[in-house]
Amino acid sequence: MPRKVALLALFAASITLATFSLGRAQTSPAPQGAPPQVYRASLSDLMTAIIQPRHIKLGLAGQEKNWPLAAYELGNLKGAFDRTAQAWPIYRTTNMADLIEATTKAPMYAVAAAVKAADPDKFNETYEQLTETCNTCHQSIDHSLVVMRVPKASPYPDQDFRPVKP
Ligand code: HEC
Repeated sequence: MPRKVALLALFAASITLATFSLGRAQTSPAPQGAPPQVYRASLSDLMTAIIQPRHIKLGLAGQEKNWPLAAYELGNLKGAFDRTAQAWPIYRTTNMADLIEATTKAPMYAVAAAVKAADPDKFNETYEQLTETCNTCHQSIDHSLVVMRVPKASPYPDQDFRPVKP
């Protein structure tokens, strides 16, 4: 199937699904006084809430040559991937821990080495490779519409990514 057709089919399927759940939400409201249900974050919730911000913060810290913060954010990104695999051991039919390791382990090591060496050029190069592996996984798991890139500006007006002056 050509790529465009496949994407359209995916889009149509998600609209159908969205309409379906909307219909259900309207026709069967939770009974009054029912206990709240435990919220289970979807994989895309986790990607948006814990993976994407760490990826951005790591990039911004490295661009500012703030190596201690970059190391900290890299650790946070690793932890976020671990927790994602714990929450979603299998996504559709894919073992997430295996796929995360296969795609992100080597580039994360490379970024760690660049951070340790405090090497801005190496950082930019390896961070770009890491970003590409986000896309490799998205493509391999039928989500090529989700395209990550190197952040050019900070979406966090309340956080200073520059190195802390002693
Ligand atoms: C092991 C595979 C895998 C890796 C690695 C991965 N992702 Fe994802 N990502 C997914 C899947 C699968 C989805 C779609 C989930 C869904 O819609 O249910 C997704 C969706 C997303 C989304 C879309 C959420 C939305 O609603 O817009 C973002 C953003 C995202 N990923 C960011 C990243 C970033 C940044 C990285 C790399 C640091 C990354 N992902 C690495 C599998 C992966």
